[in-house]
Amino acid sequence: MTDSEAPDAPVPAKPAAAKPRAAKPAAPKPVAPKPAAAKPAALKPAAAKPRAAKPASAKPASAKPARVKSRAVKRAPQLRVFVTGASGFLGRAVAAELVAAGHDVTCFQRRASGVTGATDALGSITDAARVAAAIAGHDAVVHLAAKVSLAGDPADFEAVNVGGTRILLAAATDAGASRFVYVSSPSVAHAGASLVGLDALPADPEHARGDYARTKARAELLALAADSEALRVVAVRPHLVWGPGDTQLVARIVERARAGRLPLLGHGAALIDTTYVDNAASAIRAALDRVDADGAHGVHGRAYVITNGEPRPVAELLAGMCRAAGVRPPAWRVPASVARGAGSLIEAGWRLRPGVDEPPMTRFLAEQLSTAHWFDQRRTRADLRWMPAVSLDEGFARLERSYRGA
Ligand SMILES: NC(=O)c1ccc[n+]([C@@H]2O[C@H](COP(=O)([O-])OP(=O)(O)OC[C@H]3O[C@@H](n4cnc5c(N)ncnc54)[C@H](OP(=O)(O)O)[C@@H]3O)[C@@H](O)[C@H]2O)c1
Repeated sequence: MTDSEAPDAPVPAKPAAAKPRAAKPAAPKPVAPKPAAAKPAALKPAAAKPRAAKPASAKPASAKPARVKSRAVKRAPQLRVFVTGASGFLGRAVAAELVAAGHDVTCFQRRASGVTGATDALGSITDAARVAAAIAGHDAVVHLAAKVSLAGDPADFEAVNVGGTRILLAAATDAGASRFVYVSSPSVAHAGASLVGLDALPADPEHARGDYARTKARAELLALAADSEALRVVAVRPHLVWGPGDTQLVARIVERARAGRLPLLGHGAALIDTTYVDNAASAIRAALDRVDADGAHGVHGRAYVITNGEPRPVAELLAGMCRAAGVRPPAWRVPASVARGAGSLIEAGWRLRPGVDEPPMTRFLAEQLSTAHWFDQRRTRADLRWMPAVSLDEGFARLERSYRGA
């Protein structure tokens, strides 16, 4: 599946010496203070917070806006971070993590994020003028907003995932931001075969499965190609993020199991890595911290897979999520080859009826549930200086508590 690596793919084949990096001081890169007037008032949402001009590095406590932040009181904000997609499952956790770390966070998406201590700026990432207005004055971007779905109009995936990322990169450059974290997905390098103990392979839009993975792959290549001395870019690929409030993975599994529509594919023995949501959020924060670093463990221009580092058989994972939700785990089996064939047919049929509910099976989903995919996390942990803090078993316990309302 990886034989067709893009020749200019930046990860991980990129040797450290391939991209010359100018000597750069170890201290945080100073960013010229941006006057508040740089943000056009007419385009600023009514709720937008006032921002005092400030350098990116150390900001004296006295310069902090009068706004009260719930968990940021112990440390002064370090960076003004523009987070896209914070009304979503992972984006909300990331924005909360960055607020807790003392950053000054703006959340950009179409619906309110509800993240305590952050400011919302509402809009679509496909609206270049709106993005440019909202991003002005920020030092860093963490880009999560995406069309995340098993089905839908291919043009929407293209416009949001590729077009939106292009707009964000251009706006970040124009705004003078110095850091950009692109939240990607391991599916950008998954062409259907097993991934066993591998590091991040190059994103491969030609062979990635489905419109979501294809467009995320193209967006990741765009993002990494934009890495420069002025704008440091890193791609992080959290694998199968789950936890309380998860509408992507857990909710789909539980809903299908409850309806008796969740089979085990094959023997359910494929080893799969997943990521508890708090770990994914802390890894993304670590990537933001480290993207400015140079040297042997410099992370910019590279991609990193993020997981809990605890691969488990898919049957065990599904059972853990179902039990946490009080639902009987799947017991009936379907041969993986049958599910893949059916997934391809269903996927083709669903393309004829865009906008309706999600297909019960796709080839991508069948492959995800029946092939091993777990990753070598040594480079990720060394370079990001990060370790997952929440074990899978602790995650299942927290998930169960959330379903019980405890
Ligand atoms: N969950 C996972 O397992 C997983 C794994 C790997 C990578 N990721 C990546 O993590 C990111 C977030 O995933 P998620 O699971 O949290 O998905 P999600 O819950 O569906 O959230 C998607 C977010 O994107 C925003 N968005 C979508 N279209 C937008 C647009 N046109 N303009 C502005 N914002 C838009 C949505 O906000 P509005 O609808 O309010 O605009 C929402 O906040 C994605 O980039 C995804 O590829 C997720």
